[in-house]
Amino acid sequence: MWIPRRLCFQNLRDAGLPFVYKRVLSHWCHTSPSRLFVQHSYFSDFANMEDNLGDMGFYSPNPNVRGMTCLNRKAFNKTIQVPVLKVKKEIINKLMKSLKHRLIQRPSLKRVIEDTKDDVNKLVILDPFKIKSVHSFEEGDFLLFKQFDINPQVFQHELELTYENFKCEEILRAVLPEGQDVTSGFSRVGHIAHMNLRDHQLPYRNLIGQVILDKNPGITSVVNKTNTIDSTYRNFQMEVLAGEDNMITKVKENHITYEFDFSKVYWNPRLGTEHERIIGNLKPGDILFDVFAGVGPFAVPAAKRNCVVYANDLNPESYKWLVHNCKLNKVDKKVQAFNTDGRDFIRTTIKSELLKYMKPLSAEQTNSCHVVMNLPALAVEFLDAFKELLEEEPSSNITFPTVHCYSFSKDDDPQKDVKERVEAVLGTKLETLTLHLVRNVAPNKEMICISFKMPGNVIFKRLPETDEPMSKRCRTDEENDVK
Ligand SMILES: C[S@@+](CC[C@H](N)C(=O)[O-])C[C@H]1O[C@@H](n2cnc3c(N)ncnc32)[C@H](O)[C@@H]1O
Repeated sequence: MWIPRRLCFQNLRDAGLPFVYKRVLSHWCHTSPSRLFVQHSYFSDFANMEDNLGDMGFYSPNPNVRGMTCLNRKAFNKTIQVPVLKVKKEIINKLMKSLKHRLIQRPSLKRVIEDTKDDVNKLVILDPFKIKSVHSFEEGDFLLFKQFDINPQVFQHELELTYENFKCEEILRAVLPEGQDVTSGFSRVGHIAHMNLRDHQLPYRNLIGQVILDKNPGITSVVNKTNTIDSTYRNFQMEVLAGEDNMITKVKENHITYEFDFSKVYWNPRLGTEHERIIGNLKPGDILFDVFAGVGPFAVPAAKRNCVVYANDLNPESYKWLVHNCKLNKVDKKVQAFNTDGRDFIRTTIKSELLKYMKPLSAEQTNSCHVVMNLPALAVEFLDAFKELLEEEPSSNITFPTVHCYSFSKDDDPQKDVKERVEAVLGTKLETLTLHLVRNVAPNKEMICISFKMPGNVIFKRLPETDEPMSKRCRTDEENDVK
């Protein structure tokens, strides 16, 4: 049916369409009146769609899935109305890139579909939140349509969304009880997704695990933490929710590969920056003692920097993977690994090695010595093992080890709290130190790293008062300045 051009422009004026569109449409009036007729019918059709979009649940799956505990993927299917453009098959590829920001964004959804009633054109699915009507197009879009000789008319199309087209959170929100928190967050450790589900989510745990597995390529196992981390070895009790039961995994942190059994050792993917910060202070030839080494995230990179490393962990499994990771990263010659209690490690290995390295400080001696103690719940208490560690007081200036000790604090002033607790254990005031906030572990619980030079009056046996105070015979903290 032919629509007079005059009528067409009347409509455009009423609709307040952009100028460029008017020009393009004017072009269509000359060339393709029948298409213009379809355009005319557009305005009433899309009113419904706008109402539909007002509903927050536009992209939510079929509501019948609420309460599902055993995953039935087909039950999620839902039909929605979406805006489409009809585009000639031969120009689709050229057009797609330019039209990218106008297209529907849904997981695994084909944005170009066949039109069963039309051999010439295909349907390009537009983003219903961006293209509500022809008014939604911008000047650039109309120029594009003109360039490719495309009718800018927007049609509506019934589209069936399936399980594959919904996001993880949309699926879980549709299944779990209404109004309750839907947390689909997890820590990723190699192929393992590690969750910490709340009580109300537990009846749905296997479904949640399966959805996480389906929606995250590379994850082949989903586990849930079943206890708080209070075991000696800081590893979690965990339950496999979905996927394989294999907990031996491989991760990369700061370009270094580690392998370990996640069910038997401690690994926290949130500590990468802290490991890097400490290692960044080390120079080739420096000495590193790692009292609570885990599977090696301080020890291996320090050895890669050509430091001399002594690494210890009480957990036989951590020790096994520590040794493994040193070999894996070809630094086994630079790391001596120990499997003993941290206090014993300080009183035996650190004591004997420290004596060798605490040579009088001469002009040439530039290497420093560091002790890392990352067991935040307890490490401060282990500092007492340094008290009177060395019997013989040196007769000349020496360099003391820098200790990096980690602690949790729930205090209002966590840094002051950690400093005071360290001083209480050491029995001395620390004049030079740095306090670093590592991370917020939980609401009102911080993880702090305190770094300080071990004071001489702590590490050496206190001798009866002599004429010259010990502080004069040893380098002071200020002189050593914490690095
Ligand atoms: C918080 S993890 C830190 C591991 C590693 N340094 C890191 O940064 O990821 C603490 C480690 O201390 C070990 N550990 C616990 N108690 C210990 C003790 N008394 N002596 C030595 N190691 C201990 C645990 O097995 C665990 O590997």
